[in-house]
Amino acid sequence: MSPAGKSSIRLLIGGVLASIGLGLLLGALAGTLAGWAAAAIVLLLLVLWQTRQLLTLADWLQAPDAPGPPVLPSAWQRMLLQRSDDRRRTAATLRKVEAHLRSFTEAMNAVPDGLLILDAGQCIQWGNRAAEAHLDIDLARDTGESVERLVRNPGFGNYLREPDPQSPFILQTATARTRLYALRVVPLSELSKLLISIDVTDVRRLEAMRSEFVANVSHELRTPLTVVSGFLEHFANGNAMTSEQQQHFSRLMSDQTARMLSLVDDLLTLSRLEAEDAPASEETVNMADLLQQLQSEAQSLSEQAHRLEMRCDGPALRGNRKELHSAFGNLVSNAIRYTPAGGTIRINWRVSDGLGIFAVHDSGVGIAAEHLPRLTERFYRVDRGRSRDTGGTGLGLAIVKHILLRHQATLVIESQIGQGSTFRAEFPAWRLQAPD
Ligand SMILES: Nc1ncnc2c1ncn2[C@@H]1O[C@H](COP(=O)(O)OP(=O)(O)O)[C@@H](O)[C@H]1O
Ligand SMILES: [Mg+2]
Repeated sequence: MSPAGKSSIRLLIGGVLASIGLGLLLGALAGTLAGWAAAAIVLLLLVLWQTRQLLTLADWLQAPDAPGPPVLPSAWQRMLLQRSDDRRRTAATLRKVEAHLRSFTEAMNAVPDGLLILDAGQCIQWGNRAAEAHLDIDLARDTGESVERLVRNPGFGNYLREPDPQSPFILQTATARTRLYALRVVPLSELSKLLISIDVTDVRRLEAMRSEFVANVSHELRTPLTVVSGFLEHFANGNAMTSEQQQHFSRLMSDQTARMLSLVDDLLTLSRLEAEDAPASEETVNMADLLQQLQSEAQSLSEQAHRLEMRCDGPALRGNRKELHSAFGNLVSNAIRYTPAGGTIRINWRVSDGLGIFAVHDSGVGIAAEHLPRLTERFYRVDRGRSRDTGGTGLGLAIVKHILLRHQATLVIESQIGQGSTFRAEFPAWRLQAPD
């Protein structure tokens, strides 16, 4: 028995003995009846007093938020203090458990993958925030509900019941049609399992891009190869040909071979650019020289068909000369190829608002606004026929974008159908060499 219990029993026995003593004393002095009456009254008072303490104690125990224990006589008080200690300890343990639970929930909510615990009947027991977003559910509302009923997707229910450990279930929800999630089930016990969802949209998009790229390259190579192999077959069959025809066929074949070569060259350039983030080396590029070189290349490409203007008002530029030459050369060759004879092409290098600006302006066919955001995609062409006829590979602007990115520069395109286009490469100030 606790010390408080013993002490309250001692108090009780003391009280009873005192009332018997008083009864006997009064009995001897004033007669037996008076003795009994006095003892009974004292005992009654004792019982009433104890009952009052008991009621106070019961009241306090029933009020869980009561601040401190009430003040009672010593034995009761000790008992109360002990209860009060227990209560404080329980509250502290509860607070600790709550804090642990809160930090666990915060950690789980920070996990980018969806986690959902299901019972044997596929009902949701617990989940994190990512699971809510991925499966389009609301845990506050849907906990206890069957996930199979909430996520309506053909085959999902079967997968939950018989998951394939080798391959995940790919889910596309109704609200987020553009996103894809890979779902896996991990058994936890006989009665519960964990459903994990991972956002695989970007991975899938990359895979699609890769296979689209392979398809594009194959298609680009197939056309010239078909032409060349057709001619070769014609020759192999020993078909008679005039020398004029022979010349014509040879020219066509060499055109097709040149096309394949430039495609392979561009593909190699792109893959080299993608292999590393930064140019192998950088130097101070004399822009006046580079522009001079671009102009003479432009002249030979244009064959006097265009008016060419060139201005170099800016300082030297820090970068990789070969890459910059390739990027600027692509912009200039596009300007010539997409500008009918008689048009004007202006190439200039200047500083504006602290930025180094290389601009190629043409008075050519122009580009409709809806194409502008996609121009730098590989093999994206506005006019496939025109691009091919002028020896384009569809990779030029993709190469330009890569090179500029490696030089922390941005490509700005402005164009109007029938009016012409301006392609601007804007370089950050730190790449410009301060004039001496
Ligand atoms: N200066 C320009 N004027 C009009 N259209 C252009 C110009 N430069 C690029 N384009 C359009 O952008 C497309 C992509 O350019 P690019 O990647 O260099 O490939 P291409 O090999 O076809 O020139 C071209 O097919 C063309 O439709
Ligand atoms: Mg091009």
